[in-house]
Amino acid sequence: MRGDNTGAIVRKLHSETVAPREGRDPMQRLEADDLKGVSETLLIPLHYHVEESKRAGGAFKDEMTERFHDAILYEWDRFASEPLRSGMPIRTAILDEQVGNFIAGAPDGLVVNLGAGLDTRFYRLDDGTIRWIELDLPNVIAFRRKLQEPQSERHQLVAASVLDEGWVRQVKLHARSRVLFVAEGLFPYFTEDEHRRIFGDLADGFPGQGMLFQTSAPSLIQAH
Ligand SMILES: C[S@@+](CC[C@H](N)C(=O)[O-])C[C@H]1O[C@@H](n2cnc3c(N)ncnc32)[C@H](O)[C@@H]1O
Repeated sequence: MRGDNTGAIVRKLHSETVAPREGRDPMQRLEADDLKGVSETLLIPLHYHVEESKRAGGAFKDEMTERFHDAILYEWDRFASEPLRSGMPIRTAILDEQVGNFIAGAPDGLVVNLGAGLDTRFYRLDDGTIRWIELDLPNVIAFRRKLQEPQSERHQLVAASVLDEGWVRQVKLHARSRVLFVAEGLFPYFTEDEHRRIFGDLADGFPGQGMLFQTSAPSLIQAH
């Protein structure tokens, strides 16, 4: 949903570059055209995380999320009146605390972020030993790779759908004795049958492991 002058704005912005960080070359800003349908929803938490990061007294400061946001061309004003605006950073902060507790008790564990989008919790919580997988659809992972995150053996991007069979096998290749799955903003997008399949795959593939997830009331989903 672009305004009449969007083409001109995009062309202008496209000629700008993102300031180099950590000794990297300046990066061309990315258009979000590759993120369509459900994938585009990842821009909502990204935007609210940045607002929270920049807010005086915010729940967290996150330079990586600000960097991702800076690097993407998008009509961010579209999110100005989102009803989830105030709640999203709160749920993120709650999950940060819970994931932080897991890391403290299992520093050699593995966190698997399902439907990760451009989430940067890894950078907020990294203790130098935790292993972490960001799993999302192939187009999202391809987009994320263009953002040139710092490379780390402990931080892997996995391109897969949680509705496909192969993802459990892929994650098992990295599994440790303790695994925590996190799903923030993922489950509103599936049918009841799909939820059964995903939770069945998790229970069969990773018995005894933990999971943190956020759900949305049907009334909220219908209101969208
Ligand atoms: C609202 S975004 C949340 C992103 C991230 N968890 C966050 O809180 O910033 C929903 C994410 O779920 C991903 N997603 C949707 N369906 C998926 C599927 N079948 N398998 C893996 N990821 C999926 C989307 O691509 C998108 O990145």
